[in-house]
Amino acid sequence: MGFTLDKVVPWGRSYQEYVSMFSLSDTDLKRRILGCGDGPASFNASLTDGGGNIISLDPIYHFNLTQIKQRITETYTVVLEQLRNNKNDFILDEIQSIEELGAIRMAAMELFLYSEHLSAC
Ligand SMILES: C[S@@+](CC[C@H](N)C(=O)[O-])C[C@H]1O[C@@H](n2cnc3c(N)ncnc32)[C@H](O)[C@@H]1O
Repeated sequence: MGFTLDKVVPWGRSYQEYVSMFSLSDTDLKRRILGCGDGPASFNASLTDGGGNIISLDPIYHFNLTQIKQRITETYTVVLEQLRNNKNDFILDEIQSIEELGAIRMAAMELFLYSEHLSAC
């Protein structure tokens, strides 16, 4: 069975979310990093821009940026709607609302899409 884009819901975390999620120290961030399943997250783009050394792997990189962007546009409002409907299942901590979460994730995905420096395969 093939990996098709119409089955993918692209949703990417920000650099700061990765740092928090994986408890990455300054020392960690200077290491060579392999990002598995990084999708449209902005961690690779931001780290690479700052001189870091990372390669990301994800099956969606088989598709080009125009295709991934189109899929993000198609699915973004659906994801937000589902988050609103299920918001009691999430702990948002510092994030104040589903709308703020959506804005953070969209900004991260745009950084991924428009980055000039991205090491991915
Ligand atoms: C929910 S997204 C998370 C993206 C990113 N890690 C983040 O936290 O923002 C999950 C990602 O896993 C990728 N994925 C699915 N199957 C995979 C596989 N077998 N190997 C590597 N990545 C895979 C998907 O394409 C998708 O981009």
